[in-house]
Amino acid sequence: MNKIKIGIVGLGYFSDDFIRLFKMHPGVEEVVLADIVEERLKSSMEKHQIKRGFLGFDEMLEGAPDLDCIGIFTQRHLHGPMVIKALKAGKNVYSAVPIACTIDEIKEIVDTVRETHKIYMMGETCYYYPCAIFCRQKYKEGGFGNFVYGESQYYHDISEMYHDFQHTLGKDDWRMPAGIPPMFYPTHSIAMILSALSNQHITQVSCLGLEDHNKDNIYGAGKNYWDNPFSNETALFRLSGGGVMRINEFRRVGINKPSSYITAFYGDEGSYECSVTQHTFQRGSSTEDGPRIEYLDELINCNNYIKDKKAGTMDMTKDPCSVKYIIGYAPVHDVARLPEVYHNEGPGNHFNSHPFLVDDFARAVTSGKLPPNNAWDAARYMIPGLIAHESALQGGILMDVPDLGDAPSDWERLYK
Ligand SMILES: NC(=O)c1ccc[n+]([C@@H]2O[C@H](COP(=O)([O-])OP(=O)(O)OC[C@H]3O[C@@H](n4cnc5c(N)ncnc54)[C@H](O)[C@@H]3O)[C@@H](O)[C@H]2O)c1
Repeated sequence: MNKIKIGIVGLGYFSDDFIRLFKMHPGVEEVVLADIVEERLKSSMEKHQIKRGFLGFDEMLEGAPDLDCIGIFTQRHLHGPMVIKALKAGKNVYSAVPIACTIDEIKEIVDTVRETHKIYMMGETCYYYPCAIFCRQKYKEGGFGNFVYGESQYYHDISEMYHDFQHTLGKDDWRMPAGIPPMFYPTHSIAMILSALSNQHITQVSCLGLEDHNKDNIYGAGKNYWDNPFSNETALFRLSGGGVMRINEFRRVGINKPSSYITAFYGDEGSYECSVTQHTFQRGSSTEDGPRIEYLDELINCNNYIKDKKAGTMDMTKDPCSVKYIIGYAPVHDVARLPEVYHNEGPGNHFNSHPFLVDDFARAVTSGKLPPNNAWDAARYMIPGLIAHESALQGGILMDVPDLGDAPSDWERLYK
């Protein structure tokens, strides 16, 4: 197996765990770093014992021509142009979510991947969330029958993110990027449901927004790069198979973790539901053996949640909402498919989805096979949100959602 050399761009909060994991992966020869902030570059190189570092993305592309991969972890609205530039420079690209923030950029990414045959993979953490894995597997086995309706959401109150946006150093007020339309970050919510329905895409949307007048002054005309007035957006999407999906992207809401989850995934034969940390699957009365309920708490919650609950050490009035219970693997995770170095990984955030993403990308690059969350998937997770915001700005009118099609059928898939 050829080993890869990857240059990580953007040394903020999120990339740190990925630098560590890329360094550990047996398919990776070297990790190189870049940030425009010198202190971040220095401290990250020291922490991870990295030999080569650059003061910016362009400087890295120019100064390290031997890199075959670039990992993009800059602010969310900067991804598109960087991804295109890296692909055109002949690199394979891993990018944190989202793929890009305009339809033109997304089209260019899809076209460039088709032309260059380089690997593009978006690091959709929720693809490896336990609820999404369960729904994907059950749907594939036929347990749901035909999909009829689903609900998922990403709830992250903006007050919890002040610090994240203030961390970004720049010439403008931190509120300018913070006020990004919620539907410009729909990929967690959409991916959890759509990745189960791999033969379907979104065709139409109607979306309503909540105008925000909070004293933190983030939303409204002139207050952010997008003149976005909404902190919360609720969209109803029509799917190509006829079903309907409701997505909430809320940045002003009094609710705690888990932040991204599926609350309902209904088929005509069976249904999954979740409330906080209680997960169930029910068979409908139309099925051969009639109604039946399965309790899935010990499959879908993470291992330390299950352990603490069994030990009776959980305070059920507080703990189920706690961040500590979206940490680490869950029994539904196929840990055995990962390289051994990741098997005993300590508690990792986002349900320890990061090792799966790093492994998918490394395998895709070294094998040339198409990974999950490729450019075509990522486009289907993002474009519907961009149109949803347009619908919300026009009072919720029903709009058609463009689709960039399936990935080429002659490109061998990493997983069947
Ligand atoms: N669950 C998830 O999937 C998840 C969670 C958190 C963050 N994210 C994504 O990860 C990305 C990074 O988030 P973060 O919180 O670390 O952001 P951050 O603002 O802390 O870090 C971004 C870094 O990029 C650097 N940067 C900007 N332009 C650059 C350039 N031209 N060259 C080199 N470096 C440059 C900045 O200086 C900064 O250090 C975001 O896109 C976010 O959407 C995803």
